[in-house]
Amino acid sequence: MHDLVSIRDLGKKDVEAVLSEAARMEKMPPKKSGELLRGKLVSTMFFEPSTRTNMSFQAAAKRLGAKLMTFYPSVSSTAKGETLGDTIRMIDGYVDAIVLRHPYEGAARYAADLAEHPVINAGDGGNQHPTQTLLDLYTIKKLKGKISGLRVSLMGDLKHARTMRSLLYGLGMFGADVNLVSPSALRMDEEVIRETKGMFGINVSQTSDINLKGVDVLYVCRIQKERFQDKYEGEKMQKEFRVDLEALRGAPEDLAILHPLPKVEEIPPEVDSDPRAKYFEQAKNGVPVRMAVLYLASKG
Ligand code: CP
Repeated sequence: MHDLVSIRDLGKKDVEAVLSEAARMEKMPPKKSGELLRGKLVSTMFFEPSTRTNMSFQAAAKRLGAKLMTFYPSVSSTAKGETLGDTIRMIDGYVDAIVLRHPYEGAARYAADLAEHPVINAGDGGNQHPTQTLLDLYTIKKLKGKISGLRVSLMGDLKHARTMRSLLYGLGMFGADVNLVSPSALRMDEEVIRETKGMFGINVSQTSDINLKGVDVLYVCRIQKERFQDKYEGEKMQKEFRVDLEALRGAPEDLAILHPLPKVEEIPPEVDSDPRAKYFEQAKNGVPVRMAVLYLASKG
């Protein structure tokens, strides 16, 4: 691995290598992991807000012994109109790896084509967020011991959530059974579903009804209300596609509830203390997974 732009750039063996490296990183004493990228410089370039991806990449780089150079667009020459391409060329000359989040779809691929050093996509618009998919797969495997054959429900705004498209692909790669649960207006792009089914031959069903019977993993994302012309319509859908304690009554005891976070109204705070809520543990897994990605990219 050199760049990581899309989960589609990785084969199953590559993903397995990242997951197994992440498991090794998680167990590794800080003294040992702190030697792996000693002397290297990593730049985090976030042109969009982020808490988890930004902070966990910073934690990962530091735990590997690398030094961080944080790029702040608002106080850089981006504010004077410098292009992304010129900015990437400059930073590439200063550091050993770039972690990029940008609002434009395709920005990470563009940056990776320009830069000599590895570029890791930390989210490009509504397109891809490959390290989120890797940490989702890592979390599911860690919680359930496997991914193949699991019944996974992806629920919420499946039209706009980039994490869900990448995750469907990742789940397909490992042979999970996937149920897509969304309002009919917010269904996942048919082309994405067709591609995943065609490539991996998995079962993918679609529904607008929430039924948690027999579900192993419920992966929730928020309704992106800001994308609705009629705000009331978005709010109405969010009320229907909500996982509260009432919705969880009768759900399997060993259900794992995941969410890429940030969560807003789709999971109320009282669910956080339910033992089935695993989303904070999932976010924590971002550190070993991103350590693995930085380390493998530096070697590749
Ligand atoms: N899951 C995720 O990408 O969160 P952030 O936007 O906070 O990085």
